[in-house]
Amino acid sequence: MTDLPLSGRVALVTGGTRGIGLATARALVEWGATVVLTGRDEARAKEAAASVGASGLALDVTDAKAVSSLVRGVAKEHGKLDVVVANAGIMEDALLGMIKEDLVDTTLSTNVAGTLHTVQAAARAMMRKKTGSIVVLASIVGEYGSAGQTVYAASKAAVANIARSAAKELGRSGIRVNAVAPGVIETDLTAGLSEDAKAENSGRTPLGRLGRPEEVANAIRFLVSDEASFITGQVLGIDGGLVL
Ligand SMILES: NC(=O)c1ccc[n+]([C@@H]2O[C@H](COP(=O)([O-])OP(=O)(O)OC[C@H]3O[C@@H](n4cnc5c(N)ncnc54)[C@H](OP(=O)(O)O)[C@@H]3O)[C@@H](O)[C@H]2O)c1
Repeated sequence: MTDLPLSGRVALVTGGTRGIGLATARALVEWGATVVLTGRDEARAKEAAASVGASGLALDVTDAKAVSSLVRGVAKEHGKLDVVVANAGIMEDALLGMIKEDLVDTTLSTNVAGTLHTVQAAARAMMRKKTGSIVVLASIVGEYGSAGQTVYAASKAAVANIARSAAKELGRSGIRVNAVAPGVIETDLTAGLSEDAKAENSGRTPLGRLGRPEEVANAIRFLVSDEASFITGQVLGIDGGLVL
């Protein structure tokens, strides 16, 4: 059988129980990678993993020690770690005057600190072999802002800059770091949008519709593959042209 583009590669996807993370795990398996996905609940992670031919582990990315030990464990079990997708994230809207400390804490600890913990642990695991590829999940909201989403936008701007800075730092170690910045993708995260808001977003999008999780997954799969071997520090919009 011909080798697939990711045959022999070991990949970890955080927040892989549904949405973009699950689609990414599936896409990586399709290209031959051995994939571990994570979610906060072990049973849910194992069930999601089984549905795409991956294995599933429990992990809350806000817990730096847990992230470090899980990443070390995966690298030890498989002898290496080639690909890490720091996808776990949350989104909650609040107008400026309504922002509560709790929302700030939860959003920053999940989206910013969680991504940072994952990138740090990935870099440590990849450094020994001097090769690897990391993708983090930014957002068009982080690049351009959005009314009612100041906290989320700030967190995603930080994520994009984690990718840029880590790419500068890790390039000499053979590790590439990129971000994807999806537009509005139909997942649980955006399920709460009103039909009017969805229609408005589709209307403003040159491609005339919202995105699908597989469309983000396919871009992530490209970025972590050797097809993207000279691409690092980029924030790739996957938004149907919404920002144009
Ligand atoms: N959907 C969009 O339109 C869109 C646009 C731009 C960016 N993004 C970003 O893309 C990523 C995935 O979004 P999605 O739409 O697929 O969201 P989703 O369907 O809500 O899935 C979120 C995933 O993150 C996991 N997660 C949440 N908090 C976690 C924590 N503290 N520790 C570990 N895992 C955690 C969830 O797992 P459990 O609940 O099982 O723990 C779930 O697997 C997020 O970073 C999001 O900000 C999404």
